[in-house]
Amino acid sequence: MTASSNSAPSPASPADAQAGADRARALRDTLGQFATGITVVTTLDAAGQPVGMTVNSFNSVSLDPALILWSIDRGSLSYSAFTECERFVVHVLKGDQQHVSNLFAGRGADKFGQVKWHRGPEGIPQLDDCAALFHCRRAQNIAGGDHTILLGEVLEFSAAGGEPLIFHRGRYRALAGE
Ligand SMILES: Cc1cc2nc3c(=O)[nH]c(=O)nc-3n(C[C@H](O)[C@H](O)[C@H](O)COP(=O)(O)O)c2cc1C
Repeated sequence: MTASSNSAPSPASPADAQAGADRARALRDTLGQFATGITVVTTLDAAGQPVGMTVNSFNSVSLDPALILWSIDRGSLSYSAFTECERFVVHVLKGDQQHVSNLFAGRGADKFGQVKWHRGPEGIPQLDDCAALFHCRRAQNIAGGDHTILLGEVLEFSAAGGEPLIFHRGRYRALAGE
């Protein structure tokens, strides 16, 4: 049990609704203690237009077969593009790409006009100058509450290296020295 525990009340009254909102905030803050890297995931929508979003739910799943996952909010504007696409590309951001993270975290913004990118395999948008990338086939959608978990089979990957961009307690961080 954690130092501050929270049980889930049923929102029968305004006070209960407030308690529910407080609990959601506390859960978000507690999850934020887990430091992650940051990725931008890109694909094409049904009209062939580039779409992309900032994602820190990315993680490795399996080496053989090569599988990764990330989860997408069901309310994202690019939800149908990602949950119906054949391929997507996960880009691991470098420490100096905070502006790229902010750009792709914008809701429906013109994200591709402000970064360097080119079309990779199958025409999927590929951002330049990232630490690593994984070109994936969408293998499975898994229901996950208000998110959908996307399982990707890694078809191609490459690493340029460099210092990573870190996200911790709602803020960007740099790695501490060795
Ligand atoms: C650091 C960071 C990590 C994020 N991780 C995720 C994530 O894992 N899944 C998700 O659905 N949204 C995530 N978001 C929010 C999306 O990037 C944001 O909602 C974006 O506006 C979605 O774009 P769209 O609505 O145009 O599709 C993250 C945002 C930030 C700043």
